[in-house]
Amino acid sequence: MPLDESTVPASDISPSELIAADTGSEWWRTAVIYQVYPRSFADSDGDGMGDLPGITSRLSALADLGVDAVWLSPFYTSPQRDAGYDVADYCDVDPRFGTLADFDALRAKATELGLRLVVDLVPNHSSSDHRWFQEALAAGPGSTERARYLFRDGTGADGELPPNNWQSVFGGEAWTRITEADGTPGQWYLHLFDSSQPDFDWQNPWVREQFLDILRFWLDRGVDGFRVDVAHGMIKKPGLPDYTPPADSGSMGGGLEEGATPPYWAQDGVHEIYRSWRALLDTYAGDRILVAEAWVEPLSKLANWVRPDEMHQAFNFTYLESGWSAPSIKRVIDASLEVFSSVGAPSTWVLSNHDVVRHASRLGLTADNPQGAGIGPRSPGLPDRAVGLARARAASAVMLALPGSAYLYQGEELGLPEAIDLPDEARQDPTWFRTNGERYGRDGCRVPIPWEAASPAYGFNTSGESWLPQPDDWAPYARDSQTGKPASTLELYRLALALRAEFDLGSGSVEWLDGYGADVVAFRNGVVTVIANTGTVPVELPIGDELLATVELDGPALPGDATVWVRSA
Ligand code: NOJ
Ligand code: MG
Repeated sequence: MPLDESTVPASDISPSELIAADTGSEWWRTAVIYQVYPRSFADSDGDGMGDLPGITSRLSALADLGVDAVWLSPFYTSPQRDAGYDVADYCDVDPRFGTLADFDALRAKATELGLRLVVDLVPNHSSSDHRWFQEALAAGPGSTERARYLFRDGTGADGELPPNNWQSVFGGEAWTRITEADGTPGQWYLHLFDSSQPDFDWQNPWVREQFLDILRFWLDRGVDGFRVDVAHGMIKKPGLPDYTPPADSGSMGGGLEEGATPPYWAQDGVHEIYRSWRALLDTYAGDRILVAEAWVEPLSKLANWVRPDEMHQAFNFTYLESGWSAPSIKRVIDASLEVFSSVGAPSTWVLSNHDVVRHASRLGLTADNPQGAGIGPRSPGLPDRAVGLARARAASAVMLALPGSAYLYQGEELGLPEAIDLPDEARQDPTWFRTNGERYGRDGCRVPIPWEAASPAYGFNTSGESWLPQPDDWAPYARDSQTGKPASTLELYRLALALRAEFDLGSGSVEWLDGYGADVVAFRNGVVTVIANTGTVPVELPIGDELLATVELDGPALPGDATVWVRSA
């Protein structure tokens, strides 16, 4: 993808700031951050839904794996119409997940284990159950309460048509018409996601004040940072003009065409919000961070989210989408290192999260379904499991050798595949409902993870309940099936993280090595040489001691779909 340097306004950054930022040794510059999806990590009370005490009880497994920090997806009060990304109270814990005291216990346990703790912040929209929205409905058109959200009159003779043509990321119209208190058909409100997720009006200073208070609440409770949901969507273009996106825009509404900025994504006004948040975080001791979930391309534009006075990191979804192809992986690595360092930020790397097809399946999809935006039993081009797993192990071994900060999603260290065969009636993602089953959505990557091969619900709990059914062939993926087995994916991750720490790869650099051919990613980071073969023809290995290999090597050649780390002289 071409880089557009002009979108990084270098003049905004003074050289002294850049140097200071560049040489920083803050923990997050090199951290490996593990995403816990609370619904599906560990369930202490057996109701089939993971919870905070469950996470606390299993946290030592993550310290043992060797990660530096944990990011928790939302556990706040919520009707769970979008799995908690529909928040009804930002400063409390949903009873399904526990209590604030349970959060404090989790926080304390993380500290004891030496793990940082990042929480999710969902500022683009609230739940329609939130008191602020309910008050807005009751207060009527023109009220200060309605001004918290994006209410507009409809078009057409009687206001029966939506205010504009915007579509929800989850499918269908991005507007819903309400019934006013007197029973008449009323105004419409904007929801870029589900109709239960009304968008705030971030031009309203009242909204800004509420969120500064929410940040303070969690900072005072000792969190090390926030992953900021939809950090590209909070400001909408004035006038809310019609817009028709290109057919292939990404699953989270990303994939911005160069030059075409949708009126609801990546508007310049978002940056002053993040500057005010950064200023608040900077008043707290101890390197607290903001991480942008911003589906913004090209990377040079995304770099604006991590300028020295804005956020600390942004998820590198361009890397996630680079596929299992050496030229594309190398291009994205080069671009990432260049654009993020130009603003003094570390690059991040990510291959999986709760919104995309798990990379042990995604990287095995065939050409019929290259994107893998939600797969199910009737999808074309379904992956071969062994191929997908081999590529996932090889891709993870590339990612964990790169300088910067890497994000892991729970279960990828077990090599978990996407749960493809979920029955239709079990699915819960609003995408599935809003597209009448045309798009499977994200349930397949959200199934509760296996801990113990022989226990009920694979040790997710003791009751055997599970909010999404677990496939019956997951015993070999369970943590206890893999522990201590050198060939397992779990031990591969553990080794990679230990070597990453030992050789300080997170603060290293990438020096490309030539001569391995177009299908090979070959580079040195310090004394570690990494060779990844994305093709089918075996490649000759360099001389040096083998540190790690994603396949058992049989002679001096590296087969396809495999990665090796060698200690160079
Ligand atoms: C991104 C989150 O990761 C996703 O799960 C959620 O559905 C949307 N934002 C809306 O909050
Ligand atoms: Mg539970």
